[in-house]
Amino acid sequence: MSITLLLNASEVLTCAGPARARRAPEMRDAALHAQHGIAIGPDGRILAVAPDAELRQRFAGASEFDCNGGVLTPGFVDSHTHAIFGRSRQAEQELRAAGVGYMEIAKRGGGIHSSVRDLRERSEDELFALARERLLRLAAHGTTTIEIKSGYGLSLESELRTLRVIRRLAAELPLRLVPTFLGAHEVPLEYREAPRTREDYIALLVHEMIPAVGREGLAAFCDIFCEPGVYTPAEARRILGAARDAGMALKLHADELEHAGAAELAAEIGATSADHLAAVSELGIKALAQSGTVATLLPGTMLFLGRSKQAPARAMLEAGCAIALASDFNPGTSPTVNFPLILTLGVSQLRLSVAEAFTAATVNGAAALGLAAETGQLAPGFAADVALFDVRDHREIPYWYGDHRCVATWVNGRPAYRR
Ligand code: NIG
Ligand code: FE
Repeated sequence: MSITLLLNASEVLTCAGPARARRAPEMRDAALHAQHGIAIGPDGRILAVAPDAELRQRFAGASEFDCNGGVLTPGFVDSHTHAIFGRSRQAEQELRAAGVGYMEIAKRGGGIHSSVRDLRERSEDELFALARERLLRLAAHGTTTIEIKSGYGLSLESELRTLRVIRRLAAELPLRLVPTFLGAHEVPLEYREAPRTREDYIALLVHEMIPAVGREGLAAFCDIFCEPGVYTPAEARRILGAARDAGMALKLHADELEHAGAAELAAEIGATSADHLAAVSELGIKALAQSGTVATLLPGTMLFLGRSKQAPARAMLEAGCAIALASDFNPGTSPTVNFPLILTLGVSQLRLSVAEAFTAATVNGAAALGLAAETGQLAPGFAADVALFDVRDHREIPYWYGDHRCVATWVNGRPAYRR
């Protein structure tokens, strides 16, 4: 690979700055440059961001890509997805519209449990093919890094099978994938009746599943659904403690629908991120603000569940939290592959500025994956993970909501998507 210049863009939104999670007021500056281009080195790293004429002069003989007046941004870092599943769950949407709540559907054995029954019956090849197709759809909207959780297996064998599918996808797709073990996504139904108990499942997680995932090096993170009716903070502390011992960094589904003190726990144990937070308390916000834990907000989930309450993003920013945005792509609560739509919701529902939303979707998403020094910004030395959009002004990306404006992406300087 030679040097490549991306030229003739109307704007380059670089998000350049410190290689760590940004807080307000840093989030307000997404480092916008008009009429600049990007030089990508043979190693797939960014060499320079500068006016086109300057790049042509410095890198004479480089191959050129014409951006056709579009806008370049860092590829989105989607730090929270559940992309490995079997069939879709559209029937639940109408049930919720008719007044049956998300947790009520789960109590009836639907929701996550129906995805578990389905996934357990599918082969590794089948799951691979389904996920491959879905990840390419995410990529087509400008996403270049995708965290993927297990969590629809809930048995040693099916959770390992899920994580091996992610490993295969990471080897075969031109995307940056980050695997997370979510064996504590639910308590499986077979552990709710004698002779087996939920305590038996937690013991299985702590003594068998987590050590096995650690031994095979199958996951960078361990996550848990810490929510009233699922796992308690005390159980989360125990399970995540075992995960840390096995070499994984930590994440929590925290205070998603009801407050349980999960944000406080995430801050206390030094989790890399606490995710959802629609029901976070004042104390939880304070704890996150004073910690290094990234607050990952998933506005698509609340929208799709038909809930009017979103995470209190402005209060969190004012308190000093570092906010990331992610899709939560999953078959139950957020089946969207469209990351620009998440930016739209970030602005219209969470009341972020466009610059704050982009920072949350790039640099802070990378920080939520421990990758802030690698991706999420267009600056010399960073991986050339780039997205090109068919708009003239970056604010049009959240503006044309639901549209498909991404025309190309690069990951490590290599073409990953072309319209
Ligand atoms: O992030 N809350 C738990 N997990 C997912 C939903 C999973 C499902 O319903 O299948 C979430 O919303
Ligand atoms: Fe989730």
